Amino acid sequence: MSQQFDVVVIGGGPGGYVAAIRAAQLGFATACIDAFKNPEGQPSLGGTCLNVGCIPSKALLQSSENFHAVQHDFAKHGISVEGAQMDVAKMLERKNGIIAKNAGGIAFLFKKNKVANIHGLGALKGRQGDKWVIEVSNDGAVVDTLEATHVIVATGSNPRQLPGLPTDNQLVLDNAGALALPAVPKRLGIIGAGVIGLEMGSVWKRLGAEVTVLEAMPTFLAAADQQIAKEAFKTLTKDTGLDIKLGVKIGEVKTGADSVSVSYELNGEATTTEFDKLIVSIGRIPNTQGLGAEAVGLALDERGFVVVDDHCRTNLPNVWAIGDVVRGPMLAHKASEEGVAVAERLAGQKPHVDFATIPWVIYTSPEIAWVGKTEEQLKAEGVEYKKGTSSFAANGRALGLGQAQGMVKLLACAKTDRILGVHMIGPMVSELISEAVVAMEFKASSEDIARIVHAHPTLSEVTHEAALAADKRALHG
Ligand code: FAD
Ligand code: NAI
Repeated sequence: MSQQFDVVVIGGGPGGYVAAIRAAQLGFATACIDAFKNPEGQPSLGGTCLNVGCIPSKALLQSSENFHAVQHDFAKHGISVEGAQMDVAKMLERKNGIIAKNAGGIAFLFKKNKVANIHGLGALKGRQGDKWVIEVSNDGAVVDTLEATHVIVATGSNPRQLPGLPTDNQLVLDNAGALALPAVPKRLGIIGAGVIGLEMGSVWKRLGAEVTVLEAMPTFLAAADQQIAKEAFKTLTKDTGLDIKLGVKIGEVKTGADSVSVSYELNGEATTTEFDKLIVSIGRIPNTQGLGAEAVGLALDERGFVVVDDHCRTNLPNVWAIGDVVRGPMLAHKASEEGVAVAERLAGQKPHVDFATIPWVIYTSPEIAWVGKTEEQLKAEGVEYKKGTSSFAANGRALGLGQAQGMVKLLACAKTDRILGVHMIGPMVSELISEAVVAMEFKASSEDIARIVHAHPTLSEVTHEAALAADKRALHG
């Protein structure tokens, strides 16, 4: 007899585990099947985000920032530290400890909320009456069969590989390999100056690697507001020291015994560069391997994403899909919000995920964050807008932190003053962006932000100034 559930979630990343908890809270008998195994071969909930994505990358970013600060910033405070050393093994141990703590936390939440925690690969097998049949296998052997009224597919994404260049995570690394390098490589090559390339490049550069980033596009961070992107390019090349080459055409990549050679063309000139390690971070592809999509006729688009409507409904009755495996930004918070929305829809509620107010953050130093439209998008759409900018250079808190770099730019409708986009580069803008998200969600005007009291001295005063500047009444500009 198969185990019976109201809801079975396939995938235990930030989309799936959150959907499962919410469904259980709403009274559904819920199971979550997850296949992820950590390097020790043990189940580890949390998906890409927790195991080989958001959380470990931020742990390493912090460790490497601390190391950089000891070497370059402490002396300015009058603190002298000599002979600072980086113990990479210890840094990785700390990172792994954070993963284990959070993964255990999810397992605890499953217990607390009575979500059945099932380890293995879940495959849709077909219908049995009005139920879906899902088979669970582990290391190739079927270990369980479940039946569910509703299925939520949350199988995430995998790194895209360069054609003909499989990652071995020894010399050619994907995100998992880039987060687990046992030693600092002398010469690190990175293909793709996207979010992973810049974050991982920053980590290993700060720890001492020479980092070359090879990017196909002629424009840096094309999705970001270009004023911010230009500032980011300047600081990441000059201050962080990343050697970022734009408009590169990658040719042959050859792996040797302990190095990789990459041939590429730049401005019509052919070059070959030797690296000790190469990270390939050229985007991610939806993951439906082993899901049984074909067997049950689950519609995928030409790029392999599960096709869904605005409410994450697939073409099959009572089958839903969320997160990286469907359209939209590949972000953990987007996956989680879709998970909550689907669970609440099953319970008869009318939730809505507003794609227009999903924030983006890149955790370089300084950080980059934005929400809403860029200036380029507004121009292309013919929207009349006004803008206010303010820099961190004179902000007292930023100066105290020793991180008085960057700016906030606020874009508002020229007619109604409604905020249309906020773009930031600077210290802790990952946290500052939330004010802009709340403002946009509440359809605030730039005047609303300008009239709100911001604590002094705080970094958020720069957002306040940008809002004042949008009305040409900046006080410190
Ligand atoms: P995933 O997290 O990929 O989880 C899917 C899970 O399903 C996995 O555990 C997988 O093993 C499992 N699975 C797959 N198929 C099956 C099956 N058939 N049966 C059972 N289980 C299955 N996003 C941010 O918002 N902020 C960040 O700072 C950030 N940093 C990142 C850094 C890196 C290096 C990477 C690679 C990504 C980062 N992301 C970040 C993106 C973020 O990780 C993803 O958007 C997020 O994990 C997507 O969540 P998900 O639940 O859709 O899928
Ligand atoms: P990305 O889409 O951010 O960047 C990929 C880059 O590779 C692009 O600039 C692209 O032009 C370039 N590229 C593609 N093909 C190339 C080629 N053949 N040669 C040279 N360059 C090439 O993808 P990335 O960095 O792999 O990250 C995947 C996703 O993971 C991100 O889009 C994001 O959704 C998520 N992520 C989010 C983070 C965050 O929120 N802070 C951190 C890391 C990842």
